[in-house]
Amino acid sequence: MEIKLEELKKFKFKKGEVLVLPYFEKEKIDLKKFQIEKSFGKILRNLKEGEIESILTLDGKRIVISNCGKKENFNQRKFRIWIRKVLLNFASKNLEKIEIFLKNFPFEKSFLIKEAVCNLILADYKFSKSSEKKKGIKKINLLIENSKNFLNDLEEGKIIGEAVNFARDLSNSPAQDITPTKLAQIAKKEFKGSCFQVKILNKKEIDKLKLGGILAVSKGSSQEPKLIILKYLGTQKSKNFDIGFVGKGVTFDSGGLNIKPWEGMIDMYMDKSGAAAIFGAIRAISKLKLPLNIVGIIPAVENMPSSSSYRPGDILKIYNGKTVEVINTDAEGRLILADALSYLEKNFKPKFILDVATLTGAAIVALGQRAIALFTNKEELEEKLRKIGEKSGDYVWLLPLWEEYQEEIRGDFADLRNIGKTKYGGAITGAIFLKNFIENTPWVHLDIAPTMTSIENQGLSRGATGAGTRYLIEFAKNFLNQTFLT
Ligand code: BES
Ligand code: MN
Ligand code: ZN
Repeated sequence: MEIKLEELKKFKFKKGEVLVLPYFEKEKIDLKKFQIEKSFGKILRNLKEGEIESILTLDGKRIVISNCGKKENFNQRKFRIWIRKVLLNFASKNLEKIEIFLKNFPFEKSFLIKEAVCNLILADYKFSKSSEKKKGIKKINLLIENSKNFLNDLEEGKIIGEAVNFARDLSNSPAQDITPTKLAQIAKKEFKGSCFQVKILNKKEIDKLKLGGILAVSKGSSQEPKLIILKYLGTQKSKNFDIGFVGKGVTFDSGGLNIKPWEGMIDMYMDKSGAAAIFGAIRAISKLKLPLNIVGIIPAVENMPSSSSYRPGDILKIYNGKTVEVINTDAEGRLILADALSYLEKNFKPKFILDVATLTGAAIVALGQRAIALFTNKEELEEKLRKIGEKSGDYVWLLPLWEEYQEEIRGDFADLRNIGKTKYGGAITGAIFLKNFIENTPWVHLDIAPTMTSIENQGLSRGATGAGTRYLIEFAKNFLNQTFLT
């Protein structure tokens, strides 16, 4: 699919073409401008919010009118869904080209174009190993005024949309295809060029570094663990790292000896979605040429039951020296992230750390499937962090990280236990566990379990959403405008 901007002033609606016309209630549309007969005005007035009507004019032009409701109630969230559904409306047809009129929307133009392009690309994505050929539109023209001024936004929307789809491909790939070793190979292959350095640590090296969490979780699997270290060097002004990313890379989470019931296990090839978000974000950040130095760390393991598995009762020593009692082998993500976070902080000293993980089912219980759970040791940044979510389309909501919660995970025989003492607040106990492995760097933890998979009626195909990718990209962009820290 190819997306272009087309100058509104020069546009002539011709026979055989398809034009999508957004319409706000009580608003006049200049039908004449598009050489549309007046009688269609009546159809416009009868449409209800969310409804789409397709009409063929006498001279063979197709108009697709879509009622966006009242202009004063419209917002960015509705726009994203609206434009994705426009595309899906044509998904089963083999159309050559459509035109979408983008003039009416009450947002800043450059945001509008970037979001339109990005969300069209997201809607066009479908993970498929099917032998059937993909259907859909080949070309989309976005009609706007002064189109020449927005070519950068067109490009940015494409880069971000494609990065999210790259992350979706990684998340959606079955565990038979993506093992820790394969994930490491993908990193090597994908991030080539002078601005990248990729280093893969194998089991022996992980052992030598005393990354006891990664080692323990991987023990039950015939697949060796890997620690993927991916550096993006976008500026030579400084040798320091601006941002450190950590992504949970569990290529399959069976639960281990505390094995999951089948309903809980079915999606667990997507337990590498945090890693996928890091890969997607670093790809986009490099294409946008952001002048930042970023290091991404992915602990990659498979969590399996076998006679060599780690067990409940085992006591592990994490990289920073803290000890953990394993109460439940299904709380594996925090164990590998503990190693990765403390290794990152000590060896790379980034100014800011973000981790992304499908960490807890409890985060889904807390928030439903529409917002990522965000935790931070810099609570004063709450509003900024939330706005990054709104602006990117990866919506987040803050949950507390108060010190009092620490009691829930105090160990009897070791410093910590890997699950809370009660069944409540599991997303918080997971996050507070991670906090023990950050010393003093500003840090954000994104529990992306809530938005890992798509839900109905949002204009996205079934499967992974690439959750977190857009958040990280927008975070990096904001980090550049120095206002962020302090
Ligand atoms: N990967 C899961 C969390 C998860 C569940 C992600 C559903 C996406 C969708 C994680 O490793 C896990 O198993 N968490 C347990 C923690 C519990 C044992 C304290 C959970 O959420 O049940
Ligand atoms: Mn688990
Ligand atoms: Zn997991």
